[in-house]
Amino acid sequence: MQDKERGFGPGAGKDDDGSEDIHGSKHVRRPENGHSLEGGHSPAHGQSQEDRHAVDDAAGVLSGEVDVDVARVDPGQADVDAAWMDRALALARQALGQTSPNPLVGAVVLDETGRLVGEGYHHRAGEPHAERLALAQAGAAAQGGTLYVTLEPCSHYGRTPPCVDAVIASGVRRVVAAMVDPNPLVAGRGIARLRQAGIDVQVGVREEQAQRLNEPFVHYITTGRPLGVWKAAMTLDGKIATVAGESRWISGEAARALVHEWRQTYDVVLVGSGTILRDDPQLTTRRAGGRPGRDPVAVVVDSSGRVPVNARLFTTPRTRPPVLATTERCPQFVRDAWARAGAQVWVVAAEPATGRVDLADLWRRLGEAGLTSVLIESGGEVAYSALAAGLVQRVNLFIAPLLFGGASAPTPLGGTGIRRLSDAWRLTSVEVSQIGDDVLITGRVRSGTGPNAGQKGKGSEAAGCSRES
Ligand SMILES: NC(=O)c1ccc[n+]([C@@H]2O[C@H](COP(=O)([O-])OP(=O)(O)OC[C@H]3O[C@@H](n4cnc5c(N)ncnc54)[C@H](OP(=O)(O)O)[C@@H]3O)[C@@H](O)[C@H]2O)c1
Ligand SMILES: [Zn+2]
Repeated sequence: MQDKERGFGPGAGKDDDGSEDIHGSKHVRRPENGHSLEGGHSPAHGQSQEDRHAVDDAAGVLSGEVDVDVARVDPGQADVDAAWMDRALALARQALGQTSPNPLVGAVVLDETGRLVGEGYHHRAGEPHAERLALAQAGAAAQGGTLYVTLEPCSHYGRTPPCVDAVIASGVRRVVAAMVDPNPLVAGRGIARLRQAGIDVQVGVREEQAQRLNEPFVHYITTGRPLGVWKAAMTLDGKIATVAGESRWISGEAARALVHEWRQTYDVVLVGSGTILRDDPQLTTRRAGGRPGRDPVAVVVDSSGRVPVNARLFTTPRTRPPVLATTERCPQFVRDAWARAGAQVWVVAAEPATGRVDLADLWRRLGEAGLTSVLIESGGEVAYSALAAGLVQRVNLFIAPLLFGGASAPTPLGGTGIRRLSDAWRLTSVEVSQIGDDVLITGRVRSGTGPNAGQKGKGSEAAGCSRES
């Protein structure tokens, strides 16, 4: 279950070979670098900005105490590559939840005899890239060696030269990359440049793990919108609250601790006004022994201004102000009160059919703000609207061993629902695990499924589908 705690949903932190990597260990003393996309606006243009490539920062990362078992791995080159890539992925994971809107990237450099001589990871946006740090640490020892990197090295000119230049200059003979950079500014050009320079380049080692680790980045950089992950907890009979509306707690302690872990890795946690009015959640990250100080931005959709300023959303200390997303229907005095209570007030478009907050427009705004992932923790109304608008890419559903009954007790998804079975949303890459006494099912929403599958890109088709149930 340990691996369930890392990354975007279950399995994100998994090392396939089962090797306990360097999570939390002292092997890597210094934060490093990654692929930059500062400022967050317009993903296609962002990656080169403020690339400081502070190579000098790299000194001292290794500290001579790296005792990976990689050298003892089966002699087959594929196994060796996979093991070193696992280490690079583990390095990348050190910065989980810290690099947004940039990807998580880790790098390892071996000398020509196969000895580890440099390593690094992207610590946060604005700081140097992983391969720069690893190569700087390796210095002359990189000559004739191998670079393992979890993402294709960047190739475009920003304020500083691209990483491929540093790779070429280092004299490494071979580069192994887990995946091609989905950023349209890179997208294979880095690999092509390295090959032109006579470097042996291999792509695709541990690709699945790398793609999963950067699921939000990949989605964000290719769509300009945050990845939507819908999370809910229901009873065995499919209820998210009793007929009287009680819902705390349905899932067990272990599941709730896991959700707090997840929150640390998301940029946004989203609920509707219904959940605030009913449950008054704090929407912060509270985890014993957790990394300090990074709450996701709490976003509440409230079309007409029903959320009171004494809600815990406003009164709980948090590292970033909450966002109240509303429509023109919200009276000015309510907007002013929210702002005085410390919130950012975003007036977004209204769905024509319902007058509610247009979630597609909200997603656009979130993307423009450089927010790459949204954990949807709402009740059934907002969850259904988000799904119907095509904004949910992954579902994480806890099923708890409780039975509520009650025909009118709410279920995870409200809205209008579908009439024809053929309109169902279907999940793919489904994983099932047990968290304490609860079962966790996760999967990706298969594209081309759902009632609006034929109307891709028209975010507001949720209109008319979502109504108070
Ligand atoms: N077990 C769980 O995992 C879980 C999680 C969360 C909540 N809950 C339970 O769910 C219940 C609340 O359900 P809920 O459905 O009312 O909560 P919700 O989905 O969080 O909030 C719904 C409200 O959001 C507002 N909204 C704004 N834009 C919307 C849009 N585009 N689509 C839909 N709604 C939009 C609507 O109010 P306006 O029209 O006024 O804007 C709507 O009434 C509570 O009993 C709570 O305990 C359970
Ligand atoms: Zn780079």
